[in-house]
Amino acid sequence: MNDTVNPEKRRPIRSFVLRQGRMSVAQTRALETLLPRWGIPYREAPLDLDQTFGRAAPKILEIGFGMGDSTARIAAEHPENDYLGIEVHGPGVGSLLNQIEAAHLTNLRVMQHDAVEVLKHMLVPASLDGVHIFFPDPWHKKKHNKRRLIQPALVALLCGRLKPGGYLHAATDWQEYAEHILAVLSAEPSLSNTAADYAPRPDYRPLTKFEQRGIRLGHGVWDIVFRKTGK
Ligand SMILES: C[S@@+](CC[C@H](N)C(=O)[O-])C[C@H]1O[C@@H](n2cnc3c(N)ncnc32)[C@H](O)[C@@H]1O
Repeated sequence: MNDTVNPEKRRPIRSFVLRQGRMSVAQTRALETLLPRWGIPYREAPLDLDQTFGRAAPKILEIGFGMGDSTARIAAEHPENDYLGIEVHGPGVGSLLNQIEAAHLTNLRVMQHDAVEVLKHMLVPASLDGVHIFFPDPWHKKKHNKRRLIQPALVALLCGRLKPGGYLHAATDWQEYAEHILAVLSAEPSLSNTAADYAPRPDYRPLTKFEQRGIRLGHGVWDIVFRKTGK
């Protein structure tokens, strides 16, 4: 028998490590009671986003929303758009579900799954008007670079899911990762930069507490906003 590994069967390298961490009582309750209402279960079948939200409105995907504070705020301030947030981390999903309920947000849905699989198996070509990736884990060690979320293959996949004219917005507080993101997006032929290099922070992205503290300490944050070319 030949012992080469079939690449189809090899375990994929993921951009996250599942440490569920401690769930608060409120987060656990949210997963039990609110996920059935505001969550979309993962299944390998195309997802009709207009049907999911019950209307035809611009659709924005966010990958890795963490505790969901920015996500909830953006959705509340932009009722004209529909938002799909994807996160693997249970406490974060619980936290965002509680925010949806507290703010009565009807334009935000949540998935607890690997966003790469959702993109591959559920989101259909040219279905997204925008993609947000805010502070993805940069995987600092060189040997972990292959785990970085923003890689040429993921960017090509995202571009296929974006409508022509749709945008891809990434933000990071780590300069080397910012340079990496800028290089990867610049190399994708179907994207064009909206700025000469880094973009000013778009108004819709709120400053996080962590970011405000970083700014006081003189740390940088880089926003990178590209658009899919074509009509
Ligand atoms: C450093 S945190 C940033 C969270 C948030 N965007 C913020 O600005 O506070 C990155 C998050 O991305 C999530 N993540 C990484 N890869 C993911 C993937 N493939 N699918 C879904 N979530 C992912 C991680 O679980 C983590 O919560």
